[in-house]
Formats: sequence, structure tokens, C-alpha cells
Amino acid sequence: MSQQIIADLNARYTAKKYDPSKRISANDMAIIKEALRLSASSINSQPWKFVVLESDEAKQRFHNTFVNKHQFNQPHAKEASHTILLAYDPKFTKEKYSKRVDAEVRSGHLPAERYDAFMGAYAFAEANTDAQGFNGGWTKAQVYLALGNLLHVLARLGIASTPMEGVDAELIGKEFAPELDGHVCEVALAMGYHKQGEDYNHGLPKARLLAEDVLAVV
Ligand SMILES: Cc1cc2nc3c(=O)[nH]c(=O)nc-3n(C[C@H](O)[C@H](O)[C@H](O)COP(=O)(O)O)c2cc1C
Repeated sequence: MSQQIIADLNARYTAKKYDPSKRISANDMAIIKEALRLSASSINSQPWKFVVLESDEAKQRFHNTFVNKHQFNQPHAKEASHTILLAYDPKFTKEKYSKRVDAEVRSGHLPAERYDAFMGAYAFAEANTDAQGFNGGWTKAQVYLALGNLLHVLARLGIASTPMEGVDAELIGKEFAPELDGHVCEVALAMGYHKQGEDYNHGLPKARLLAEDVLAVV
């Protein structure tokens, strides 16, 4: 076991107060965005959209979406260096999937003659699609894989973060309609550097169940 991995995962935590004067470097932002793009998903569906809020204007727009609820998360909108809206496609169609299979062939990952066989994997999406074409339960699960990937990447970069299910999906949907392009954001991730002495969650021990409670090795 690499102790560095465990040390990084123990060091990462959910930040509760950001230092607005500290910004994530452009180099680290490039790593974060590429890591997101490289996230794995079932049948390589990639049924997501990630909206990176970087400008003051974008942060203000996000701030505005807390007018009705979850105000405890609102300060992060302006104080964190960046926030990423992680959004799922509620209706991931076979046609959309074919674009992913096109990329499979274009990249050299999939031989062209196996195109149809690969398209058959859409059955996994179909099995999770209701009569109205909604498969957001399944696509949202894929988005959470990207979130988990991101949390680990940030741990390794030594950047603090706050996963937020405490967001107003409806207002975000309205405010960021052009960027979301039909995708639904029910979770966001604030990122940056904690405010020294003002983040009550910083430096506390990890609180997790015991290994024997969650792990079975047989
Ligand atoms: C999907 C998800 C949603 C969360 N939503 C919020 C939130 O809205 N606000 C918040 O302060 N923390 C939120 N958290 C943080 C969790 O409470 C935290 O990850 C958990 O207590 C473990 O602590 P740690 O992240 O410091 O290790 C969320 C975490 C996850 C994974």
C-alpha cells in the first residue's frame, strides 16, 4: 500500500471557509479539467457536462441561485477560487451514444468493423430508461464517478474542496441554461484554499466507519 495515497486521502476534507485571496493556478486548473474529461463511465457514455465557474460574473450568477435554500453553502460561491457544476443528461439517447462510439473509432480505440457491436452496449442505458426516455438515475451515477475522481485528484494536488448537494438544481438550471445545454446539475464542487483559523473543519481527524463495518474480504 502506498502510504502517500492514504496520507493524501486523510488530508483531504470538506472545506467550510475559503480564503478568497488564494487562487488555483492555471496549471492546476488545466490538470483538474483534463482529469474530469478522463473520468470513466459505463459504456463510455460520458453523459455529462461540467461547467467551470471562474469569472466574478459566473460566481455572482451562482451566488444568486442560493436565494431560496441551502444558504450555508452560499459563501463558497464567491470565496472559493473556482466551482464546478457537475451535470447529468436526463435523456441520454442512442443517437447521443453513437457520437461516443464515433470517438471510439476516431481515437483508434475501437476497430471500425466493431462499431455495431459496440453500439449494442447501449442496452445498459436502455435497461435504465423509463417510458418517457428518462435515464437520469443512471446518468447521474456516472456524474458521481467524475466527482469521486475529482475529489481524489484534488487531494493529490493539495487543493481544498467542498462537494455540495446543497444547491438549488432548479435555479441553477435556469441561471445556467445556456451552459448546461439540457443537463441537470444537482451537485457542485467548490475548490480553493481554506481560510487560516476560520475553517472549523480543517485539521480534524477523519470520521469513518471501521474497516470491519464496511469491508468483507472473502
Ligand atoms: C455528494 C456529496 C454532497 C455533499 N454535500 C455537502 C454540502 O452541500 N455542504 C457541505 O458543507 N458538505 C457537503 N458534503 C460533505 C460531506 O458531509 C463530507 O464529505 C463528509 O462528511 C466526509 O467528510 P470529509 O469530506 O471531510 O472527509 C457532501 C459530500 C458529498 C460526497
